[in-house]
Amino acid sequence: MKKELEHSLFKDLKSNSKSGIEKILAKKINFGKKSDSNYSSLWKESSFNLDKVSLYNGFNQAQQNQVLSNCAQSRLLESYAIEDAGMSYCAKMSLLAHSQSEQMLYSTFAQEEAIHLSFIQRFIDPDNITNDSFISLLKEVVIHGSRRSLLLIMQIILEGWGLEHYKKMQQGAIDPELKEIFSLILIDEASHHGSGLVLFNTNNLTTNEYEYIKEVLAKFLYMVGCGPWALLNSIEQGCGHLNKRQKNMIYHEINGEQESMEKLNIIKKLLIKAGVQDIADDLEKTNCFKPQWDLK
Ligand SMILES: [Fe+2]
Ligand SMILES: [Fe+2]
Repeated sequence: MKKELEHSLFKDLKSNSKSGIEKILAKKINFGKKSDSNYSSLWKESSFNLDKVSLYNGFNQAQQNQVLSNCAQSRLLESYAIEDAGMSYCAKMSLLAHSQSEQMLYSTFAQEEAIHLSFIQRFIDPDNITNDSFISLLKEVVIHGSRRSLLLIMQIILEGWGLEHYKKMQQGAIDPELKEIFSLILIDEASHHGSGLVLFNTNNLTTNEYEYIKEVLAKFLYMVGCGPWALLNSIEQGCGHLNKRQKNMIYHEINGEQESMEKLNIIKKLLIKAGVQDIADDLEKTNCFKPQWDLK
């Protein structure tokens, strides 16, 4: 059963513009691809903290455009994978719903996630998607998590955290269509997060669920706290290998420790907001809310 669910939740779905399904879908949602995706003109440099990086400021225009373009593409590919996982998540929650109203709610959310996916699809080629450790964790949780664990991990923590992430993406966008898209996504995500808070009941957690939630959140917090690797990778892909000294310099220039602390604190506050202070305390005891930059 688990294998079947795994297979049906995350099939390798290739798009084919000539297929009958996509023609029908195109009548329901905007499925077209934006013709001129110049990635370096989607977001401001400051949206990725690149304006603070002296190495980047010393690059020529072509190199800067390449790095900016890499940052934008990696951000869009991550958003695509998040929306894709969100669609599968809502399908599973619809089947696990405790009432018809709840099932209707998740069916509506699934449609919203499909629309978000189509928005992001306008800017990227989904064939470039590769699963990083965060996306792999996300998929694993959607497949294996129980209804209550999912409500807390996916809807309260990840969608709550995602709201902050998307807000920054919306504010830093230069492209008007992209800015509009993220404004619309933010409205839906706020209601997804809010309904998670309404549906989650802290008294119902079993010991297994409690332990599972802690294990997943410890992994997620490590990823958040380990530093600006997406930025470093985008710079390396554009301009070659960075040595340890250069990576450390970038980390300090963008105030990486402070940034990681702020992100980790958002997650701690969300746990407290959900009424699971005990989970926050246990994670605190194992230093999960501390930045994990290890190149010092
Ligand atoms: Fe979404
Ligand atoms: Fe969502």
